[in-house]
Amino acid sequence: MDLTSVFNKDLFKDKVVFITGGGSGINLGIAKNFAQLGANIGICGRTQEKLDNAAKELEALGAKVVAKSADVRDADALSASMEATKAALGPIDVLVCGAAGNFPCPAEALSPNGFKSVIDIDLLGSFNSCRMAVEQLKETRGSILFISAGQAFIPYAMQAHVGAAKAGIDNMMQNLALEWGKYGIRCNSIAPGPIEGTEGAARLEPANVAKQMDKLIPLQRHGTVDDIGQIAVFLASPLASYITGTVLVADGGQNLLGSAIYTELVLKEMAGGGD
Ligand code: COA
Repeated sequence: MDLTSVFNKDLFKDKVVFITGGGSGINLGIAKNFAQLGANIGICGRTQEKLDNAAKELEALGAKVVAKSADVRDADALSASMEATKAALGPIDVLVCGAAGNFPCPAEALSPNGFKSVIDIDLLGSFNSCRMAVEQLKETRGSILFISAGQAFIPYAMQAHVGAAKAGIDNMMQNLALEWGKYGIRCNSIAPGPIEGTEGAARLEPANVAKQMDKLIPLQRHGTVDDIGQIAVFLASPLASYITGTVLVADGGQNLLGSAIYTELVLKEMAGGGD
């Protein structure tokens, strides 16, 4: 979709959007949607080369970009990346807490460190991002978007670590909305369903599961990174100026089914019984 057929092409002109995990997937898609509407972009992630490639794509859309690596588990590195962004582009108007880790694993086989790794990247990483950005966001009366998931509100087998992390994110998001509303800072979560072409989908959907899911999802398709990017743009825009503390589910209705069908498909596939 041509975003400028809906939104003014200068909607985010000279605004600064900082995206953790912005080097690929849904997060890079979000960055591109903001860049198309005039925003300048800061991105961080663990791999500088991936960030540099993403920066080229964003610059081709007209954005000024700061791409400085930081692991969200390292608050000091994160702060350095955000400060470099501020020095080059100005204070952050929109923070997207997108960095995440995921792998399917039955709880009885998951090591404590495996559980901790996902909690540290998703939940602690989101807190670190907000904590390190809050002074900049106070300056701009900015907005925070968290990337959640259906696992936060529906139990999915092999996702105990992810569900705990994402439910924690949504609860923290509401706490921050409560505390930081007085600064004009809005906090909201987006809960994407299965998004095609992402590492998350590749990790969670063995080959045959994706196409079977398409038949079952009420809207009969996977989402696209632009489906999520467009929502991010909306939630950060003045159209959403009175929205804070919400989780916007964008999953084509997938979670209306619960998780039993997905689990059955995955277990069948893992046992070698897919069609
Ligand atoms: N199944 C079970 N346990 C796993 C696992 C898997 N597929 N992958 C990693 N782990 C465990 C490891 O065994 C380790 O635990 P241990 O020390 O008890 O053996 C622990 O998780 C940490 O693994 P490590 O690879 O050292 O962590 P990392 O910090 O380098 O990577 C992950 C973090 C594990 C989340 C990794 O999958 C990752 O980097 N993901 C980022 C990309 C991603 O997940 N994208 C999709 C987002 S939806």
